[in-house]
Amino acid sequence: MKITEQIKQPIAAEMELFEKKFYEAMSSKVALLNRITFYIVKRKGKQMRPMFVFLTAKMISGGTINERSYRGASVIELIHTATLVHDDVVDDSNRRRGFFSLNALWKNKIAVLVGDFLLSKGLLLSIDHGDFDLLRIISVAVREMSEGELLQIEKARRLDITEDVYYEIIRQKTATLIAACCSLGAASVNPDSEDVEKMRRFGELIGMAFQIKDDLFDYTEDSIGKPTGIDIKEQKMTLPLIYTLNNCTKQEKKWLINSVKNHNKDKKRVKEVIAFVQNKGGLTYAEKRMGEYQQEALEILSTYPASPYKDALALMVNYVIERKI
Ligand code: IPE
Ligand code: IPE
Ligand code: MG
Ligand code: MG
Repeated sequence: MKITEQIKQPIAAEMELFEKKFYEAMSSKVALLNRITFYIVKRKGKQMRPMFVFLTAKMISGGTINERSYRGASVIELIHTATLVHDDVVDDSNRRRGFFSLNALWKNKIAVLVGDFLLSKGLLLSIDHGDFDLLRIISVAVREMSEGELLQIEKARRLDITEDVYYEIIRQKTATLIAACCSLGAASVNPDSEDVEKMRRFGELIGMAFQIKDDLFDYTEDSIGKPTGIDIKEQKMTLPLIYTLNNCTKQEKKWLINSVKNHNKDKKRVKEVIAFVQNKGGLTYAEKRMGEYQQEALEILSTYPASPYKDALALMVNYVIERKI
């Protein structure tokens, strides 16, 4: 059995019901929007965030979840989808999930508005059902994601990012949403318990590893359903490059900075930079840090009693760093 199937096994029924609810949550009276949301649902992603919600909820409750868990999962996936739609506009990227991005098909104007629509639908789903504790968790994540993206742009402009700032960026733009999945999963079945904070931290650690993996993909030519090699083009400095900048000669550093600053659209030069980073151990270093986040997450998990949900979560943690897409 494939690892993803193994992970989904203890939440198979929940994931099936989730897909229906998720699609319903996107409905609109506007035909154009319905065409676009149909397209989104057809090209679904890995759905890791709802999986985290259900697995944590079931681990904490011992197997029973409720409507709050379902709504929480839908809200998070709606918001995740909205941020990807906006992210492809921001990053000027034309591919997503193995096909055209919304901005490539319908242009930026429509992509921006669809992203806003999905975000508001998500927030309203919580409000309409009085899930205010969950809404707080989610809103913190939404705020931090925007801040993280803007911090990243600020640093890309000045090309002066340090390793600590990189961790802060990925914590905000990616880890907080996965943290929200796990704390929300716990809060949906057991509000006010200490599990809510514990699971938040667990999700945050996974989220850090998850984004380091995503940034490593960019240094490969793997087929992952979205472009690779575009971070340098966008002057986005990620961990492999930051490490290399801090571990090379002054002259090499000058060449690297000059490449990113003035030759970032030159494909041949970008390839040279990628090869240089590889040779200097930038990827190996990033893999090492990713492994440390993974271990810390597994330690938190080990404090919970044995269950199929705990096992699936452990598989999930490993999948985050071993995944091929
Ligand atoms: C992509 O997230 C955005 C990042 C935070 C790197 P996923 O890789 O979970 O995207 P989908 O939903 O599976 O397409
Ligand atoms: C991830 O950012 C998207 C968000 C967290 C909003 P990236 O730009 O690094 O991710 P991909 O590679 O496009 O999915
Ligand atoms: Mg981006
Ligand atoms: Mg992007």
